[in-house]
Amino acid sequence: MLQEAQLYNEQHPITGLLCYGDGCFIQLLEGAVYPVEALYAKIQADPRHYHVTTLRHAPSPLRFFADWRMALVSAEPQEMYWLLTHLEARHQHLVMPQVPITHPHLLTLLTAFSAQAQSSIR
Ligand SMILES: Cc1cc2nc3c(=O)[nH]c(=O)nc-3n(C[C@H](O)[C@H](O)[C@H](O)COP(=O)(O)O)c2cc1C
Repeated sequence: MLQEAQLYNEQHPITGLLCYGDGCFIQLLEGAVYPVEALYAKIQADPRHYHVTTLRHAPSPLRFFADWRMALVSAEPQEMYWLLTHLEARHQHLVMPQVPITHPHLLTLLTAFSAQAQSSIR
């Protein structure tokens, strides 16, 4: 699936990060509004997973994974827990203490989410 996805993403051109672990996915999709929304509709309709939730939808010219057709990270269950807790806290504009996440892509994901959260407050 990843090869097909990366080919599609290159053609459209969509970049981002797909993090998986503990039976969950966290994905950041970056690109122009129409291609991203069209792909997200396909992902939502994909019967290989369920309970798809949008954590943040923020039009932005920034690409944090500009060189990645879809970077892939396998996370430990505890990392998934921390990531989801952090993303949810930032979604509610709460400040969280430092978390034990060290993977550079996952730290970039938190930065991207934070930057988008700030731009949508303004
Ligand atoms: C968690 C998850 C993430 C996915 N991410 C992408 C992606 O980034 N790009 C992509 O083309 N397909 C991705 N897919 C696959 C799409 O859901 C879908 O199967 C694909 O776009 C082909 O759709 P179609 O058969 O309707 O054309 C993802 C699927 C899952 C379950």
